Amino acid sequence: MKFKIVKSIKTLLFFIALGVMAYSCENEPFPAAPVGAGNDTIKDPNDTTQNPIDTTKPGKPCHPDTVYYERDIQPILTASCAFSGCHDAVTREDGVQLTDYNSVMNTADVRPGNLSGSDLYEVITDNDPDDRMPPPPRNALSPSQITLIAKWINQGALNLKCDDCETTNLTYANGIKAIFDNNCATCHKGAFASAGLSLTTYQEVKDALVNPIDLILRINGGDNSNPTMPQGGKMPQCNIDKIEAWYNNGMPQ
Ligand code: HEC
Repeated sequence: MKFKIVKSIKTLLFFIALGVMAYSCENEPFPAAPVGAGNDTIKDPNDTTQNPIDTTKPGKPCHPDTVYYERDIQPILTASCAFSGCHDAVTREDGVQLTDYNSVMNTADVRPGNLSGSDLYEVITDNDPDDRMPPPPRNALSPSQITLIAKWINQGALNLKCDDCETTNLTYANGIKAIFDNNCATCHKGAFASAGLSLTTYQEVKDALVNPIDLILRINGGDNSNPTMPQGGKMPQCNIDKIEAWYNNGMPQ
């Protein structure tokens, strides 16, 4: 009798476990709806038990209204802040390190869902040039980069990943310009452009790619005499794939 009860409890547990597995598989391929902007819906980004979205597995389609940290936010920080002398892992100016999600959350005072309370947002929007980041003579972040960072904080400052990478039918205006604007323009723009190389218009980018060995090599990690671009580290592979596909396709405008 005792044996039977134990056995049936085991059977019961087995079926419960099966049910849970079936349930989670069924739900897996769909990312949850974008996280709401209100404070009451904000989850602790480091607590994966209360996070309805699996942020670690690859194979997630990208939702158009969702900000994905690795794809959208880290590249801005890498290109504009996380290099030597500023906020890389060595310099850590003011104790702030912006090289990866955990460092950003631990050192840059980002408050999920609370824009005005987030130092990271305050410094990129500060009107006083003495306080603004990146500091002059570097260019301020563009309005679209600032909007993206604001949206990310409002969506809960999560570490979401997705991996659609569409490399067909790219034109400069549709897909390529944004990559150069977000990853290169901090240094390669206007009067203070690094190496005298501006990369903000179709013609400038096209001219730079007349010497594709240099640019393509550098975005792929560079070599001893041609260091990696952006200086803070390689862009997400999808950006590199897009530039190469566009270049191989004759650089349509
Ligand atoms: C944080 C500043 C910074 C960012 C961001 C940056 N660069 Fe640079 N770039 C430099 C500096 C400084 C040099 C000159 C030193 C050198 O050659 O490495 C340079 C040089 C280059 C050169 C060589 C130019 C020449 O005439 O020798 C290329 C090509 C280049 N960058 C491409 C890019 C591209 C493409 C991006 C974006 C994907 C980018 N850079 C992002 C700072 C930056």
